[in-house]
Amino acid sequence: MTDLSGRVQLRKFVVPEIVFGLDSRHLASQYARNLGARKILIVTDERIQGAGWTGDVEETLKDARIRYTIFSNVTPNPRTEEVMEGVDIFSKEKCDSLLAIGGGSVIDCAKGIGIVISNGGEITDYEGADRIARPIPPIICIPTTAGTAADISQFAVFMDVERKLKFCVISKYLVPDVSLVDPVATTTMSPRLTAETGLDALSHAIEAFVSTGSSPLTDLHAREAIKIVSKYLPLAVENGNDLEVRSKMMLGSLHAGIAFSNANLGAVHAISHSLGGLLDLPHGECNAILLEHVVAYNFESSPDRYEDIARAMGINVDNLYYPEKKNALINALAELRHRVNIRQKLRNLGVRKADIPRLAEMAVRDPCMMTNPRRLQQYDVEVIFERAL
Ligand SMILES: [Fe+2]
Repeated sequence: MTDLSGRVQLRKFVVPEIVFGLDSRHLASQYARNLGARKILIVTDERIQGAGWTGDVEETLKDARIRYTIFSNVTPNPRTEEVMEGVDIFSKEKCDSLLAIGGGSVIDCAKGIGIVISNGGEITDYEGADRIARPIPPIICIPTTAGTAADISQFAVFMDVERKLKFCVISKYLVPDVSLVDPVATTTMSPRLTAETGLDALSHAIEAFVSTGSSPLTDLHAREAIKIVSKYLPLAVENGNDLEVRSKMMLGSLHAGIAFSNANLGAVHAISHSLGGLLDLPHGECNAILLEHVVAYNFESSPDRYEDIARAMGINVDNLYYPEKKNALINALAELRHRVNIRQKLRNLGVRKADIPRLAEMAVRDPCMMTNPRRLQQYDVEVIFERAL
């Protein structure tokens, strides 16, 4: 990317240490030792405990005689009070490190606990970009979904129930020390969760690719993620036990995470955050519904970038005229959504026409909106909402 004088713009690029591969979750104790952990707060939730993944980690810590305590009171869309409850347990139990095993909500909650432990105050004090002064305690992440990439990114999203909004905290201090990316841990996801989190990953990759914060380094990862997710997501939904397919999806999510963590996101996520905040709706499902409508609205702002996205999805756009290219991409996105059985619209999730002005107002203020390729005003966002309703 160059500026008006033709100089290359400065771009930061941060990633955690990543161990990718089947059964990498068993390395938790080795990495805990490397990080000097004496007592770990394991952050997880009941679904992951029930699936046995938390037990696997406990076993490796016990074998290595590393002490730990468990905090599992985390809900989807992690709430500010859950973060503060985790902070209390971390302090009372005299923990010095964090290990998050779960989906995006669990990992974000662990990041939130780390922020408050190192910096004091309330998690709401750190809303926005680069507002954290001190690094968080050592943190190991083991993701159990292939989509949110919270184990890779410098983002964390929290739900403020009082203000009825979801807010982002963005800081390089939120990039975990180690991410143990183990496709085995995704095999217990339901087809529905697989579809929702997979389309979240595709939204990350597409938004990062067209973001005004993109760079050649992030493009490489975003393009690869689009190729992988659009090819393998339907297969992962059809057969969740196929480890090769689960590995591909994990890789796709990882690439998308590296891309968006460094390039930021766009209108899909800004709008989805407003829906999650006001109506407590699931992140992946909202993104899945919104994606094609945002692409349709943004397309004219960067047609060449969207053409590249179409190619990465395997669409032959070479002999098509311009409006046909746009339609081909939007149809392919809708077809993929249908193939993974996400057919609902926003109204089926309980969104009402009367909610739209408030939702749009929140969305235009979300930090993800800053890098959307088309500058959107409240009116534009309202139009997108109406089309997705
Ligand atoms: Fe997302």
